[in-house]
Amino acid sequence: MTFDKLRKEAIAEWEALEHSQKPRILIGTATCGLASGADAVLEAIKLELSRRSIEAIITQVGCIGLCYAEPMVDIIKPNRPRICYGNVTPEIITRLVEDYLVKGDPCADLALGTIGDGHIDGIPSFFDLPVLKPQVRIVLRHCGFIDPENINHYIANGGYSGFVKALTMKPEDIIAEITKSGLRGRGGAGFPTGTKWTFCRRSPGDQKYIICNADEGDPGAFMNRALLEGDPHSVLEGMLIGGYAIGASEGYIYCRAEYPLALKRLRIAMKQMEERGLLGDNILDSGFNFHLKIKEGAGAFVCGEETALMASIEGKRGMPRTRPPFPAVAGLWGKPTNINNVESWADAAAIMQRGAGWFASFGTETSKGTKTFSLVGKVERTGLIEVPLGITLSDIVYNIGGGILKGKAFKAVQTGGPSGGCLGADFLQTPVDYETLTKAGSIMGSGGMIVLDEETCVVDLARYFLTFVQAESCGKCVLCREGTMQMLEILTDITEGKGKPGDIDLLLELAESVKLGSLCALGGTAPNPVLTTIKYFRQECEAHINDKRCPAKVCKSLVSFYIIPDKCQGCRICLRSCPTNAIAGDKRMIHVIDQSKCIKCGSCLDVCPARFGAVAKVSGEQLATPKEPVPVDSWGKA
Ligand SMILES: Cc1cc2nc3c(=O)[nH]c(=O)nc-3n(C[C@H](O)[C@H](O)[C@H](O)COP(=O)(O)O)c2cc1C
Ligand code: SF4
Ligand code: SF4
Ligand code: SF4
Repeated sequence: MTFDKLRKEAIAEWEALEHSQKPRILIGTATCGLASGADAVLEAIKLELSRRSIEAIITQVGCIGLCYAEPMVDIIKPNRPRICYGNVTPEIITRLVEDYLVKGDPCADLALGTIGDGHIDGIPSFFDLPVLKPQVRIVLRHCGFIDPENINHYIANGGYSGFVKALTMKPEDIIAEITKSGLRGRGGAGFPTGTKWTFCRRSPGDQKYIICNADEGDPGAFMNRALLEGDPHSVLEGMLIGGYAIGASEGYIYCRAEYPLALKRLRIAMKQMEERGLLGDNILDSGFNFHLKIKEGAGAFVCGEETALMASIEGKRGMPRTRPPFPAVAGLWGKPTNINNVESWADAAAIMQRGAGWFASFGTETSKGTKTFSLVGKVERTGLIEVPLGITLSDIVYNIGGGILKGKAFKAVQTGGPSGGCLGADFLQTPVDYETLTKAGSIMGSGGMIVLDEETCVVDLARYFLTFVQAESCGKCVLCREGTMQMLEILTDITEGKGKPGDIDLLLELAESVKLGSLCALGGTAPNPVLTTIKYFRQECEAHINDKRCPAKVCKSLVSFYIIPDKCQGCRICLRSCPTNAIAGDKRMIHVIDQSKCIKCGSCLDVCPARFGAVAKVSGEQLATPKEPVPVDSWGKA
């Protein structure tokens, strides 16, 4: 079948859907939606519709990005704009069906926004919401809009037109277009994609491979998963383009087994491509042969490193090897290989569909286009975001993220996961681009962004990331294996109040050695979280070492819980919740904590009624309290 015919069929199906006289219901069932209860909501929708004999078209879509508002359900009534509802429950479904579908009241109080032409009183436009206004959707343009399991939805919205255009071009011209777009790899290092493709194209060899790196091992990162779950064809189209441009006839998608929904949707997408002659031999009668396979990874972080990843595909233990030879020269099974990240492939498809100039019109001089981030941590609106590069951290945290949770103070943003670092308030106005973040000692990485508030201890966070890399080190290099272990021991001592003068200098010295003596970037960047913590939060490190104090009151060994005698009402609530019987007291008696029995679980602080506020968490100080319980109001009156 020709592509023209495929497109006509797809457009006919899409338009029939768009102009349907039946109401349409879209529900986000990506992993974030399902984790928030979207499956129960979907069941409620089906039940409610059948109970009332209402015919409606239900479409399951990917994540639109507002993970904080999941489960999300959208309703489109004929000739009305689409209305998005957030935090939907089965009970809310009953109301939406009754009030909106049956009676016509759009339930403005439950709506987040409208999408499409037309206005509904009391409901703002979805894309004018502060969380979405600063965003630019290139990679995520279809997520939340199309059925990821229906190839026609993708084709009808411009999908595969970039590949079809590429088929009419010389491979060198395709690579020139990618180079002109300024696209840099979205998997971490930011290497120019066009240059990488050129190396592999020019490498001699009949058999070449391309690989999609969907390993995504950074803690807190889920951008690649969400894209594969929401729009797998955009990644596959990019791979077709890359395969054709580079001269590869085979490709692999390396995706971790913990991503079952992404894997399922990839498999469905590939089958649909094969059925339509978009994958296999002689694709669209062009003479181009391209075959794709999926390799499920077992979830080792180091397998995201490209030489380890290739070893893993070959069935060997995933361990990095020295370079050169580079994968472009001798990669998978010794053949020229090009590896790109999930998002880089999707970007390549968008560039071929819309042009290099259009893509390069977003971003900065040296960091073009957009980048997806998983915005998590202590921010009001967590989710999947896509922003033009060059946007400030402040715009991301405050405009998109809605500021710090519960009105607390901003402390830092952690970017780049275990390879990155913590940037404090001084960096809020700096642009998010490859150079600025690297200059600051962090990295863009693959897009994990963790917001920290005043109650987060950066020393403890650095310890967490070191624990991660120490456990994930493949063990090949002594300095990565033993050096990170030594660093972790020192940092653990510091967080446990056993830090010694000179520890900071020792950490700095070890960090340099680990950086220099590591074969791959896992070890090479492992000290970054510690180094930025020392650079920007040195006083906080010193407080742990010199004063045995954790200013954020997080490090368990350095905090204590006390009952404030003037405030305690002797209600006994804390006593009942204490798991170690560390609290003594009776009714109307000021309660007292036996510090030797306290395991610092914080339960007493949580349960003491807010109107009393009688439990204090302190670090580096002792509060004066009675030795034994005494009657309420007697304290200090003797
Ligand atoms: C320890 C380690 C883990 C990595 N994990 C990933 C990953 O999960 N996904 C990814 O695309 N790149 C990862 N990378 C970077 C890749 O090795 C490689 O640079 C990247 O896939 C290239 O694609 P890009 O040019 O499109 O960014 C990792 C690197 C290291 C050292
Ligand atoms: S740096 Fe660490 S993870 Fe990388 S090869 Fe060496 S030991 Fe393995
Ligand atoms: S500390 Fe709080 S919860 Fe415990 S007895 Fe006193 S007032 Fe009640
Ligand atoms: S912190 Fe936990 S263990 Fe300690 S006194 Fe309070 S409830 Fe008991």
